[in-house]
Amino acid sequence: MDDDQHLMSAQVENEAESAGETSLRPQWLADYIGQEQIKRKLSVYIQAARSREEALDHVLLYGPPGLGKTTLAMVIAHEMNVGIKTTSGPAIEKPGDLVAMLNELHPGDVLFIDEIHRLPKTVEEMLYSAMEDYFIDIVVGEGPAAHPIHFPLPPFTLIGATTRAGVLSAPLRDRFGIIEHMAYYSQAELEKIIFRSAKIFAMPIEPTGARELAMRSRGTPRIANRLLKRVRDFAQVAGCDAIDAVTVNKALKLLQVDERGLDEIDRRILHTMIDYYHGGPVGLKTIAANVGEEMGTIEEMYEPYLLQIGFIARTPRGRVATPAAYRHLGVALPSD
Ligand SMILES: Nc1ncnc2c1ncn2[C@@H]1O[C@H](COP(=O)(O)OP(=O)(O)OP(=O)(O)O)[C@@H](O)[C@H]1O
Ligand SMILES: [Mg+2]
Repeated sequence: MDDDQHLMSAQVENEAESAGETSLRPQWLADYIGQEQIKRKLSVYIQAARSREEALDHVLLYGPPGLGKTTLAMVIAHEMNVGIKTTSGPAIEKPGDLVAMLNELHPGDVLFIDEIHRLPKTVEEMLYSAMEDYFIDIVVGEGPAAHPIHFPLPPFTLIGATTRAGVLSAPLRDRFGIIEHMAYYSQAELEKIIFRSAKIFAMPIEPTGARELAMRSRGTPRIANRLLKRVRDFAQVAGCDAIDAVTVNKALKLLQVDERGLDEIDRRILHTMIDYYHGGPVGLKTIAANVGEEMGTIEEMYEPYLLQIGFIARTPRGRVATPAAYRHLGVALPSD
């Protein structure tokens, strides 16, 4: 599978999952757990824009997958009391697709573009004037008859989401007035999210169960919710009245999710580095080939968390496994 196909299938999976996610999505800033700094700032910007009766400035949200970027975009539209149109970078293939979307916006509406780093260049260039001065110039006709049409747009808010802010071009990045990095969630925040979701599922959960689940959720709400659903299945079949730590442990053992929330692939990444390359440095390409995953998947989905918990480190010559990773896998550290 090439990189594009892989991302496509990840998208399909996201969409299938999001059907079940809708009911779990908080609607208001007040229900949105965590990301306290971002919420505090956004709440000021939203209030100010509303009192001026203006569109909110453009917002760029970046950070690892599953941290609530899409959810936050919807919350912003809700708080602004405006409509939202959602699309993604790869879905907008040509400038005409963008024009069609912009044309449907009402004044103040939000246009949400997920994976904005994957917009085609021609589309991105058209966004510059749309974002800055609310107009686009379209060329109609061909040859000598070709002439530009100046096309005014209603004021709108572009919310872009990306897992890779680093690859965004400077002119695009500079046109966002609000740029926020989404961070991994704390243990306490994840516990709150788990309690909230369990309540929506009408599934009683003990504090010990929530604590255990939160510890294994890789700082990520989407993973917390996904594990909760699987544990719920397990508890139901086992005839448990409430999810406790014992149920979580049994269920996650079956799912091969370990105490730190690492799955089979995480462990394969670490084992590749440790068993075959003496702990590194190893290039991303080599790791990907050994693990049998795409480089992009490893870089965007697996590596950030392993870096965050200090199991791997980045050096100019590649990735290295840290002593903490050796300890976690129960492998003796090499003597040198
Ligand atoms: N702050 C939060 N409070 C409660 N639930 C949350 C929060 N953030 C995210 N969630 C839940 O986590 C799930 C994933 O969130 P979302 O789809 O917004 O992530 P994302 O950052 O857009 O991910 P991706 O980068 O993969 O598109 C949703 O089911 C949502 O309900
Ligand atoms: Mg999303």
